[in-house]
Amino acid sequence: MTLRISVIGTNYLGANTAAGMAEFGFEVIGVDIDESRVKLLNEGRAPLFEPGLDPLLKTHTDTGLLRFTTDYREIADWADVHFICVGTPQTDGDYAADLSQVSSVVDTLAPLLTKPALVVGRSTVPVGTAAALERRFHTESPAGQQVELAWQPEFLREAHGVDDTLHPDRLVFGVASDAAEQRLREVFATPIAEGSPVVVSNRQTAELVKGAANAFLATKISFINALAEMCDVAGADVSLLADAIGFDARIGRGMLNAGPGYGGGCLPKDLRAFMARAGELGVEEIMTFLRAVDEINRRRRSRIIDVAHDLIGAEWLGRKVAVLGAAFKAGTDDVRSSPALDIAGRIQLHGATVTVYDPQATENARLVRPTLTYASSVLEACQGANVVLHLTEWPEFRELDPAEVKAVVADPLIVDGRLALDADAWRAAGWTFRAPGKP
Ligand code: UGA
Repeated sequence: MTLRISVIGTNYLGANTAAGMAEFGFEVIGVDIDESRVKLLNEGRAPLFEPGLDPLLKTHTDTGLLRFTTDYREIADWADVHFICVGTPQTDGDYAADLSQVSSVVDTLAPLLTKPALVVGRSTVPVGTAAALERRFHTESPAGQQVELAWQPEFLREAHGVDDTLHPDRLVFGVASDAAEQRLREVFATPIAEGSPVVVSNRQTAELVKGAANAFLATKISFINALAEMCDVAGADVSLLADAIGFDARIGRGMLNAGPGYGGGCLPKDLRAFMARAGELGVEEIMTFLRAVDEINRRRRSRIIDVAHDLIGAEWLGRKVAVLGAAFKAGTDDVRSSPALDIAGRIQLHGATVTVYDPQATENARLVRPTLTYASSVLEACQGANVVLHLTEWPEFRELDPAEVKAVVADPLIVDGRLALDADAWRAAGWTFRAPGKP
């Protein structure tokens, strides 16, 4: 009999996981407390912009392998494996992860489990969470000790979520028994057969892997951003520097693009949760360098504002500023901890009129920063602008005709915060062009 899988939480991670499990050939039910999201998903539509996800959802809601519900009773004794995919955002006013969504999943699911089940956490949590959750299932579920907890962290990158789900670059199974490992090997048989490497560990190791990976990626980005500042002073080019060190296979070129710093729903909060957990475990000192990583990241945003300020050579008050990009990176409509939106908001606080254009993220941006002005095209955003800031690296911005944009601005001044535009082309069209980190 084919395995039955439930996926609890159907935002970014859960929607990808549910669609991916159906693509692997399993019967899947996704559960979410948000009725409108469930309705959308049952129509085969993702609750967010993610390339390739809608068609995958549609295929499997049509075949009947995949459906979504708000009712936990439909999954409790139906599924062999329950994946927990709810969010673990940063706690308000604290660095630690907020586990309230994970906890409420257990509140609802535990009393309903009457037969053996494997519950697999995929959310990013502090080390020690799996064991604590398992204790709760053992005391709160009628099935008691027959409920087992495993941790299987995910490494999905937004804008590549479908590919990362179907063809993971590695699988980490944090398990406390051979039976749990075998079950997970069954669930991921397709990618394993394709060659995805598997690391089997205890649950604590698996819980740490995700935070460690994101902390390392954040460190790489802050390293190159720190060097961008050094390049500015020395007259060096940080992009060429990254190319040159990136050829060393031990270093690698990935995550070495200098820019406005990392953002998104993961790197910033995972780094902080990692530091917070280290503190709780009494080993805060060994994580001190991560504080520097976070600080460099925050300073990056101020640096871009300073460069733009120098360029206009006047106070912000009364200036018109065009911001190209609102998403935290290209390919997504996610604006969580977006450097672009933060920079736009801070410049507005200095008294400028800021108009933002993003090909996908305007709706989400408007919810977070309703006081900014939003345009529906680059040219509309740039109309009468005293300075243009390029802050999210959408391909559309690379393809702009500098002469066409110059015709609508008040002053042809541009800051390429992403170091992605063709400086020669913009300068040749008469722009004063600055890219922090490049001469
Ligand atoms: C990140 C990790 O890359 C995934 O492996 C992980 O699974 C995910 O977080 C998560 O925790 O769920 P994501 O947030 O989608 O994925 O985005 P990345 O592509 O890693 O970019 C993160 C931020 O770093 C973005 O703001 C991006 O613009 C910035 N970045 C990235 C740079 O500034 N420079 C680079 O060279 C690369």
